[in-house]
Amino acid sequence: MTSQTPLAQTLKLRSGTVLKNRICKSSMNEALAEADGSVTNAFRTLYSTWAAGGCSVLITGNVMVDKRHANEPLAAAVEDEKDIFLLEQWAKSATAQGVEIWPQLNHPGKQSPKFLNDAPVAPSAIPLASDMFIPPRELTEAEILDIIARFIKTAEVLGKAGFTGIQLHAAHGYLISQFLSPKHNQRQDQWGGSLENRMRFITEIYKGIRKSLGKKFNISVKLNSSDFQKGGFTEEESIEVAKVLDGLGIDLLEISGGSWENPVNRRGEQKASTKAREAYFLDYAEKLRKEIKVPLMVTGGFRSQSSMEDALESGAIDVVGMARPFVVEPDFANKLLTSSNNVSPVKPITTGIKKVDAMAIMEISWYTNQIHRISEGRKPATKVRGLLSVINVFYQFWRRGQKVKKVRA
Ligand SMILES: Cc1cc2nc3c(=O)[nH]c(=O)nc-3n(C[C@H](O)[C@H](O)[C@H](O)COP(=O)(O)O)c2cc1C
Repeated sequence: MTSQTPLAQTLKLRSGTVLKNRICKSSMNEALAEADGSVTNAFRTLYSTWAAGGCSVLITGNVMVDKRHANEPLAAAVEDEKDIFLLEQWAKSATAQGVEIWPQLNHPGKQSPKFLNDAPVAPSAIPLASDMFIPPRELTEAEILDIIARFIKTAEVLGKAGFTGIQLHAAHGYLISQFLSPKHNQRQDQWGGSLENRMRFITEIYKGIRKSLGKKFNISVKLNSSDFQKGGFTEEESIEVAKVLDGLGIDLLEISGGSWENPVNRRGEQKASTKAREAYFLDYAEKLRKEIKVPLMVTGGFRSQSSMEDALESGAIDVVGMARPFVVEPDFANKLLTSSNNVSPVKPITTGIKKVDAMAIMEISWYTNQIHRISEGRKPATKVRGLLSVINVFYQFWRRGQKVKKVRA
């Protein structure tokens, strides 16, 4: 037993929730919903396996607040109480085992691919540098207010279903992060321009959810340390946003980075100092730690127990966030808590074809297939080749993409 590991320490959040350890499963889209975004039973099996795996918090894959705007086919969408029974079962799969479960709320904005969305929206009509996406239309103020109300409504339904918190997805280039970025938000009204105006979208969402669900409901934010894009959201701006969110009373801040155009969240920046410490955003977390009081979690790159323990002991972070390690080993957290010197066997997934390997969808496909196996009560098949997963997922997209578009319109 390694009862001395800092990973096993409890942590009291502002909400009063006591996390039973410092290990959190970060968000991964499950692609287990129906074509129209309805929740299925598969979520329950998946999360009950993950809850038994030892983490203190499970952040779910992103849940759309508007089913017409999805980032991936078969992403869940929660707009009202029609799926409340299945949502209750999903929440219970974790809470019955004493584990926190927080759905991640998202609106993709312009990062909604054209096989799903003919009319994507964004703070400004600035296209993405990829022909996977139709150039977006600028949101009107009434539409911005409608999306804020949708975030609040989705949180209310989830709170009613028994989820113990939510996370706002403000990272990876989706709508909240589009609002924060001076490159993607060039509005002249109260929602654009100064950083204060650009962060109004997220602060209004946060305030609305807090007002409705109260102090005991956990509200986390996943924020980019930076977009890593010229003219984009910088570390300095990210620190300012984190300070404001801290002041407003969020319960846990998760740090990530990048976007579809530059997915550093899954491959890191490749700096020597980053490689040595594994986690991609630790240098930033150290700077941020001095500026804020809210518990801080970093996700991206953690693989070895020693790096996780060093990061906690240095005081840079309070919670270790991981995603891919829990697909390969759903009980990895239990291993960390009960033995020493563990290292996750996660390795880059490759097909041997350079062009295919460069596609973000390649790695995501491989993990999605494994998540589906776990949701069926099976073990992950870690020897499956990357190319097979891509073919499988592309087949699913082809078969279901048109249907998704039709039923979500
Ligand atoms: C299959 C898959 C799906 C993901 N879906 C989401 C998501 O819905 N929301 C999110 O914030 N991050 C998502 N991510 C990113 C992860 O949360 C995490 O930031 C990233 O994988 C780096 O952490 P890791 O090195 O521990 O895997 C996803 C990653 C993978 C592999």
